[in-house]
Amino acid sequence: MIKLDRITKDFVVGTDSIQILKELSLEIGDQEYVSILGPSGSGKSTLMYILGMLDTPSSGRYIINDKDTSTLSDDEISRLRNVFIGFVFQQFNLINKLSVLENILLPSIYYSGELPYNVKDKAWELMRRFGIDHRATSYPNKISGGEQQRVSIARALILDPQLILADEPTGNLDSKNGEIILDLIDELHSKDKKTVIIVTHEAEVAARTNRQIVIKDGYVVSGKEKSKLLKKK
Ligand SMILES: Nc1ncnc2c1ncn2[C@@H]1O[C@H](COP(=O)(O)OP(=O)(O)OP(=O)(O)O)[C@@H](O)[C@H]1O
Ligand SMILES: [Mg+2]
Repeated sequence: MIKLDRITKDFVVGTDSIQILKELSLEIGDQEYVSILGPSGSGKSTLMYILGMLDTPSSGRYIINDKDTSTLSDDEISRLRNVFIGFVFQQFNLINKLSVLENILLPSIYYSGELPYNVKDKAWELMRRFGIDHRATSYPNKISGGEQQRVSIARALILDPQLILADEPTGNLDSKNGEIILDLIDELHSKDKKTVIIVTHEAEVAARTNRQIVIKDGYVVSGKEKSKLLKKK
């Protein structure tokens, strides 16, 4: 489903250029449940930004469903990002001026095509599923962190994307709320059949996934092989 082919990422700081990702290659199959681990500063978030098409690699190719993303126009990238990927960030990234319901509906505002369902019904279904329907008209800064993260997961799912990217989704939560969020993310894989990629520092979180990709010094040092269960297909 997605393939990174010798991706590099350089950042220019002052007069220096530093290479954060060094010819990193990786394949992730449809419906895989994968974690990305590595020391702080190793480039995990940089990699997630590239996977999410929020940033472009300095060199190398990023292929989604056999399509080289470098051949797409900005419009095509935006559209693909909107329908193909759901994001869950450590800092929730909700808009405080919008209600919970409006935040969840936000990706659909930028979507011009026909959906096979009514988005409002879908938003309510997701809120009920995640136990936040009583918060529909509340504002994000008036609800708990655990609830905010459930809102952001609902927002990630509103256009029914194939790929979920979660960058330390429990980093700002206490362990009880973290557990709730991790159980929900497990379900996105097991029940919703999404491809899920989660960045984490914690071994227990990584242990929930079927494959642990470890990056260090800009390279994948382990977890390059696709999950065995899926390889047979
Ligand atoms: N826009 C940028 N400009 C310059 N340097 C950057 C930029 N973004 C990231 N970096 C640098 O790239 C390196 C990798 O950053 P990244 O955020 O990907 O690490 P990480 O593995 O996610 O770390 P953490 O576990 O702390 O979240 C860091 O040294 C960071 O300072
Ligand atoms: Mg990071």
